[in-house]
Amino acid sequence: MDMDPDAIRPGEAAIELPTDFDAGLYFIGRIRTPWRHRSECPKNANESRAAGIACTIEVDERYAAALTGIGTCTHLLVLYWMHQARRDLVIQSPRHHGAARGTFALRSPVRPNPVAASIVELARVEGTRLTVIGLDCLDGTPLVDLKPHFAAADAVVETTVGRYAEQKIDG
Ligand SMILES: C[S@@+](CC[C@H](N)C(=O)[O-])C[C@H]1O[C@@H](n2cnc3c(N)ncnc32)[C@H](O)[C@@H]1O
Repeated sequence: MDMDPDAIRPGEAAIELPTDFDAGLYFIGRIRTPWRHRSECPKNANESRAAGIACTIEVDERYAAALTGIGTCTHLLVLYWMHQARRDLVIQSPRHHGAARGTFALRSPVRPNPVAASIVELARVEGTRLTVIGLDCLDGTPLVDLKPHFAAADAVVETTVGRYAEQKIDG
C-alpha cells in the first residue's frame, strides 16, 4: 500500500501550474493491469517485460475501426495518462535513485502532462481487447494512443542517460 505517494521529498520543488489548459484530449480506452496501488507497479516497462506479465488494453467500441490491421504488429507504442500523478513538480528525487533531477530528465509519471510511453509486445487481439506484455501502470489507467512500433525507425541503440550509463536501462 502507498504511504503518501504524493508527498514532496527533501530537495523536490513544485511550481504553480497555468490556470488554463492549451488543448483537450480524448481517452480512447482503459488499461487493465494486476496493480491497484502505485507501489505495486513495475518501475518501468523493462521490469514488466522481463517478468512476462500480460495486461489488457480495452479500446472503446467507438474506435473499433481504428484497430483494423493492428494484429499485424508484433509490438506497439502505447501512450497512456498517469491519472493519479501530481503535475506540478519540476525537481524530483525518485525513491529508487535519490538524487534530485529535473522532471524532463526523468521518466517519472509526475509531469505537467502525465503522459507515459511503453513499447509492448502484442500477444493477442480479440475485438477491441488487446493482450500485451510490457506495461507498468495502475489498473484503470486511461489510454491516450496506440501506434505501431518500428524498431528500425524508432530505436537508437547507442544512447545513454548519465546515471544509467552502465546499466543501459530507462529511468
Ligand atoms: C516510472 S513510470 C514509467 C512510465 C512509462 N513506462 C514511461 O516511461 O513513460 C511507472 C510508475 O508510474 C506509477 N504509476 C503507474 N500508473 C500510474 C497512474 N495511473 N497514475 C500515477 N502513477 C502511476 C507507478 O509507480 C509505476 O511504477
